[in-house]
Amino acid sequence: MRPHYLLALFALLVPLVSAAKGSWKPVNISDPSVVELGKWSVSEFNKDVTLTKQLVFEKLVSGGSAVFKAGKLYALLFAARNESLADSGDNYLAGAWVQWSGKKRLIAFYKHKGRKN
Ligand SMILES: *[C@@H]1O[C@H](CO)[C@@H](O)[C@H](O)[C@H]1NC(C)=O
Ligand SMILES: *[C@@H]1O[C@H](CO)[C@@H](O)[C@H](O)[C@H]1NC(C)=O
Repeated sequence: MRPHYLLALFALLVPLVSAAKGSWKPVNISDPSVVELGKWSVSEFNKDVTLTKQLVFEKLVSGGSAVFKAGKLYALLFAARNESLADSGDNYLAGAWVQWSGKKRLIAFYKHKGRKN
């Protein structure tokens, strides 16, 4: 668990989510642009220089998005594998903020307990 991501989660995601109450919509996990965002989240996470082994994106499991004045907030649940481990990976949850300008920011990223499928 990474404290700075957790702080970001509580500082940004929670108020945003409550501000958007009722406007969350499930995303289409087959939509190539949503899959790209999942891959992007993993590559952003992998930029952390303190990591010894990187994560490898596998597939989206589920996700939701909410529209705001300045952009769109995505919460994506996906499967990813630690490149150093041969067997199956874990599910991860990422929060990605995408401004209408196209600028993206990863605001949360953490391991989700258990693997759904
Ligand atoms: C989801 O996205 C895929 C790929 O773009 C598309 O073929 C499919 O029809 C979409 N499904 C829904 C429910 O919109
Ligand atoms: C991958 O596994 C190795 C060995 O268990 C660990 O040191 C590393 O932090 C893991 N990487 C990630 C991104 O979880």
